[in-house]
Amino acid sequence: MEKLIVSGGNRLRGTVQISGSKNSALPIIAATLLTAEPCTIRGVPNLSDIQFMCDILKWLSVNVRHHKTDGVVEVHAQHPLGVAPYDLVRKMRASVCLLGPLLARLHNCKVSLPGGCVIGDRPIDQHIKGLKRLGAEVEVQNGYVHARCTELVGTDVFMGGRFGSTVLGTANIIMAATLAKGITYLEGAACEPEIEDLCDFLTKMGAKIKGSGSHMLVIEGVEQLHGAEHTVIPDRIEAGTFMAAAAMTGGDIEIKGARAEHLCAVRDKLEEAGATVHRNNGSIRVQATGLLKPVDVITMPYPGFPTDMQAQMSALMTVTPGISVITEKVFPNRFMHISEMARLGADVSLEGSSAIVKGVRGLSGAPVMASDLRASAGLVIAGLGAEGETEVNRIYHVDRGYEKLDQKLRALGAKIERVAE
Ligand code: EPU
Repeated sequence: MEKLIVSGGNRLRGTVQISGSKNSALPIIAATLLTAEPCTIRGVPNLSDIQFMCDILKWLSVNVRHHKTDGVVEVHAQHPLGVAPYDLVRKMRASVCLLGPLLARLHNCKVSLPGGCVIGDRPIDQHIKGLKRLGAEVEVQNGYVHARCTELVGTDVFMGGRFGSTVLGTANIIMAATLAKGITYLEGAACEPEIEDLCDFLTKMGAKIKGSGSHMLVIEGVEQLHGAEHTVIPDRIEAGTFMAAAAMTGGDIEIKGARAEHLCAVRDKLEEAGATVHRNNGSIRVQATGLLKPVDVITMPYPGFPTDMQAQMSALMTVTPGISVITEKVFPNRFMHISEMARLGADVSLEGSSAIVKGVRGLSGAPVMASDLRASAGLVIAGLGAEGETEVNRIYHVDRGYEKLDQKLRALGAKIERVAE
């Protein structure tokens, strides 16, 4: 196993290029199962989660070629199998978005339930409800979701759950509805940019989707979809993570490829905290040379402040003088990073789904343990702002979702090394 050694104190300066979006690429690769024709996906980041998805497709007898250095995944799903086993699915929760395309294509599939998750309870009741509305019989048995139908039939489906619209649930129902008979009205749909990107890809495959990017989608089912080529959007959470890192280190960096329109809530909070955020053509520049102010943050579905940026923003607030309140409305228990940040000297108390952060004068490096992808990013950012060495252990979490994070930070002037544990 590897760990990252971060020596804080250096201001980040320079330019960083953002990779393609992991959370766009995963459902888009799953969507290639909807056609027997070849598909080519470009701009795919080289991450372990992408590798897991490709491995599952290969297990389903699908021909997959992953050109890692070029960021290209070619898929040809001529005769996919319909069973995704626990051993592969448990490695990555996003494999639940195989349900929609496999059911639509084969009318009978079994996908293992992914199991526990460190960021909180992650039920899939909304996915199941949606598939049932489209006419599928769905049972959970022996750890598998077994979905079958004679045909899928379009109808109205409401996707809003207790914590807002589900992202991968929306992806599943959209994919299933593209091959359903008749029209599906998807209400309360997630409108994350990754869902819009999926709709763009499906449209290139011949799907008929109206309202992409909104809460109300109208999907007219077609007989079959065809092969297509697509380039995924830049990763807004990777970009946001570099924005927070710039603010943490009093830096000045240009984030190339970042789409400012996907990061309004993050930009707004960093500006409220006192950083300067310029939106250039195809990039975002963050300058944070002055003292920052505390801000209150509430995570929400898009276009609200993303839960996937909560740990990074929490890290920034730990050294911002004053009191900030960070409230989680998407995953109410997603605070595993807080006790690790306390090891660096952060003063944070948890009250229900809120973290009350009292900014301290400085953090001091210590060994910490990454618990999930975004928690690790938060700990790396905390380390960049801490005095001395912070050892971030279990960085396989980082590698699930950030392409070359350490290399990119080093190029911006950070002292960060990857070493064997
Ligand atoms: N929920 C339900 N029932 C469902 C589905 C979800 O109650 O059937 C709840 C969840 O428990 C949670 C909330 O609804 O409280 C939102 O969950 P959602 O389904 O939207 O999450 P997801 O689709 O499983 C995606 C991202 C996550 C990101 C969330 C929220 C991918 C592969 N994953 O997960 O990304 O945090 O949306 O934006 O797209 C990450 O990249 O680190 C990550 C965890």
